Amino acid sequence: MNKPADIAKSAPERWAIWERFRPVQENAEDWQTYCSFRGEASDTLSKRTRFLSLAQLVRRVAAAGIQGAVAECGCFTGHSTHVIARTMTLCGIASPLHVFDSFEGLSAPTNADMITSDRHTNPSAVNTILRTTEKMFASDLSTTMANLSEHKFIVFNPGWIPESFAGMEDEHYAFVHIDVDLYEPTRDCLDFFYPRLNRGGVIQIDDYNFMDWPGSQKAVDEFLAREKPSFFFELPLGGAFMVK
Ligand SMILES: C[S@@+](CC[C@H](N)C(=O)[O-])C[C@H]1O[C@@H](n2cnc3c(N)ncnc32)[C@H](O)[C@@H]1O
Repeated sequence: MNKPADIAKSAPERWAIWERFRPVQENAEDWQTYCSFRGEASDTLSKRTRFLSLAQLVRRVAAAGIQGAVAECGCFTGHSTHVIARTMTLCGIASPLHVFDSFEGLSAPTNADMITSDRHTNPSAVNTILRTTEKMFASDLSTTMANLSEHKFIVFNPGWIPESFAGMEDEHYAFVHIDVDLYEPTRDCLDFFYPRLNRGGVIQIDDYNFMDWPGSQKAVDEFLAREKPSFFFELPLGGAFMVK
């Protein structure tokens, strides 16, 4: 685990290609946001793409004047939460950011989460190790809160999805980030938030098109078979978003 800022500094030649793109110029806000997370975090090309997308979408939602709260389901130690929160501040979004996470890791997987594709390099190992390892992505709430302490408008809702949505039924949303990896919580997040998403609002799903997380894909595809957002876009390196 490294701080993204350290990685970016340590091997500039490795990332030289990034200098060609405005969103990752050294003085670009979204890139600074990605690199300014206080906690430990992984750093991959796919993650850069998905997290820069988060920042861009939050900015677009703000620029379009879409009203409503912001929510994230699946926060872990808070890297994506920081990207959303810092961008909200830079854009002048004054809404609360509701964060939903067990802070005990993933919930129980179902058959829908088992990798069956023989194109995955080692599905059986991933199924047995990743899916049965207790507390995968478990994070400590107090550490996560410390990582995010600069963002005073974050409301932490620790608990299991969907039970932790109780009491939030009357809220409406402009932007929602779903990153819970598995079939059931992804399905439950879409069922809860889409009806409460204002027109023009956006939901980004982090795990779409990841061969490691077929359950998330299935939940989104089932959702798209019955709901018709005005726009659905698959990010080229994993993740997807929809505009209502
Ligand atoms: C991949 S991590 C999220 C990563 C995070 N977005 C980041 O930027 O580092 C997935 C998160 O989903 C949470 N999670 C999974 N299933 C859940 C459920 N049913 N209820 C609550 N939280 C859940 C886990 O606790 C974990 O923190």
